[in-house]
Amino acid sequence: MALRSANVTVMIQAVHKAARPLVRDFGEVENLQVSIKGPGDFVSAADRRAEQTLRRELARARPRFGFLLEETGVVSGEDRDHRWIVDPLDGTTNFLHGLPHFAISVALERRGELIAGVIYDPIKDELFCAEKGAGAYLNDRRLRVSGRNDLATCLIGTGIPVLDWPGREQGFAAQLERLSDEVAGIRRLGAASLDLAYVAAGRLDGFWEFGLKPWDVAAGIVLVREAGGLAQRLDGESDLLAGGTLVASNAVIHPRLVQLLRVNE
Ligand code: IPD
Ligand code: CA
Ligand code: CA
Repeated sequence: MALRSANVTVMIQAVHKAARPLVRDFGEVENLQVSIKGPGDFVSAADRRAEQTLRRELARARPRFGFLLEETGVVSGEDRDHRWIVDPLDGTTNFLHGLPHFAISVALERRGELIAGVIYDPIKDELFCAEKGAGAYLNDRRLRVSGRNDLATCLIGTGIPVLDWPGREQGFAAQLERLSDEVAGIRRLGAASLDLAYVAAGRLDGFWEFGLKPWDVAAGIVLVREAGGLAQRLDGESDLLAGGTLVASNAVIHPRLVQLLRVNE
């Protein structure tokens, strides 16, 4: 049984509270698929409602902490050292299409350092949580990244840039081509927080994506690190939340993965 700090307990309670209505709303989405307008507005409302619930619950427990919320942006707190980084619904496109793969992601940052992360997939009832120095867990099971060391056996997650998303012009196609020659499979699952949680759980051996936002990755980075994996920006810059391509994997394949993804070198 994992020992959880008071902050992580607060995070877990908040994600559970936000998840219940989100699951109900997900049930509604199927009915709305058949309407001409589709479920778009309905999903935006569900997303905002989940964010409000998370904000209310986290603020109730820690009234002085600040926030970085996907929908609302920055909310400064009296306590300048601590802030919550929140994605109320990661995997919106899946949710919108009735695909049961999405999550709520909450991280805690202290003086610019990520110290805790909770990612909850309410459909599979999988709660991923990690705290700096205390390990990573799926429900009550301790997580380790995979032990695979031969890329030819590895399953790698990614995000495929579509429309005007970053990455189309930045070499994604070349990365895909190079990686395809070396790995067992490439998956686009549609929720970056869960991609990182799956690297922590050893379900994926690695993951990379262009132009991710802080709320997509903050909690997942803590999970990967606490499960013994590595996360870095492809351009080598140290601020992992500030965009750029994030690469995460088990420590053994990491150097080779980074090398393959640096297509311009
Ligand atoms: C998106 C998902 C997706 C990733 C995108 C993100 P959202 O977040 O994590 O997997 O490819 O880059 O924006 O919009 O569903 O919260
Ligand atoms: Ca997201
Ligand atoms: Ca989101």
